[in-house]
Amino acid sequence: MRKKRKREHVENYLKTSFQGDTLLSDVYLEHNALPELNFSEIDTKTKFLGKTIDYPILINAMTGGTEFSQEINKELSLLAKEFNIAMAVGSETIAVCEDEGCRESFKIVRETVGEESLVFANLSGRASLEDVEKALDLIQGDAIQLHLNVAQEIAMEEGDRDFSGVYSNIENIVKNIDKPVIIKEVGFGISKEVAQKLYDIGIRYIDISGSGGTNFIEIENLRNMNIDLSELYSWGIPTALSLIKCKELPEDLKIISSGGIKNSKDIVKSLVLGAEVVGISGELLSYLVHGGYDNAKNYLDGLVYKIKMLMILMGKKNIEELKASDYKIIGDLKDLI
Ligand code: FNR
Repeated sequence: MRKKRKREHVENYLKTSFQGDTLLSDVYLEHNALPELNFSEIDTKTKFLGKTIDYPILINAMTGGTEFSQEINKELSLLAKEFNIAMAVGSETIAVCEDEGCRESFKIVRETVGEESLVFANLSGRASLEDVEKALDLIQGDAIQLHLNVAQEIAMEEGDRDFSGVYSNIENIVKNIDKPVIIKEVGFGISKEVAQKLYDIGIRYIDISGSGGTNFIEIENLRNMNIDLSELYSWGIPTALSLIKCKELPEDLKIISSGGIKNSKDIVKSLVLGAEVVGISGELLSYLVHGGYDNAKNYLDGLVYKIKMLMILMGKKNIEELKASDYKIIGDLKDLI
């Protein structure tokens, strides 16, 4: 059942049509006509969780557990290696709880990128401590992502309906695991209040994964014809809003921006708003599935070139300077903050 669902998530993601809005277009960045910089010296390297990556980009959690997803994970990890960027595997529940035979589809990620690369394990916020240890072990993860996916589960016919006890479970995990714990959404955003609650129990890494991109209510609705959930497709906290609100918490809460990240402006704006690293899932998957490795590589080549273009156009020679840039909030986003 879980294997079938994994495949349907990828296939249905490619069939979704709802266009959300991250509200990142309401972040205005100013042009600098006199940058006094040499393009060849623009430095996009950044350090996260003790490792240096060449660009502040994360290939975010998607898949694993089937032959089909092993192929996807292989290609994604080749891209992560080629660009020296971070990568997260999809939920490892299937490998740690149910089917030992599908472990290779996850292990292949670490085997491909090598031990120097930044790789995140992934499980649900309901996972046991023992399974978190297994998930980290399987891919020698540098951190564990625990996903919160209430909207997805509730849209899924066979999904969970009891969401109690997750908070104390996360508390138990963060207190007993010696690797960083990243709490992530799957495309509906994290509010300041939820971030504060997580901060209070010791969470220092949040992937906001806001709305505006991959829409799991629609993906699940394509698997469940008994109900029309289309009026809920616009539900969620837009990525820009979630990011700005979570950044109001103390500095030692490190934020990953994701949800609807498609282009260089989304990435640069996320960094200016305070993200350490920026995650991409659906957009990269589309390039990969529709045109193969070379197509996805061309997309990433263009992306990193355009990030450098924007950095010179803003007069910023490295990521630290970029993150300290001024910005203005306009439009709907201004009304919401
Ligand atoms: C996901 N996502 C996801 N997240 C997670 O924590 N565990 C998972 O197993 C999956 N699986 C998954 C499958 C597919 C096909 C997609 C497209 C996405 C969610 C993902 O990590 C991210 O949070 C959202 O997709 C929002 O980002 P994008 O896709 O808008 O860039």
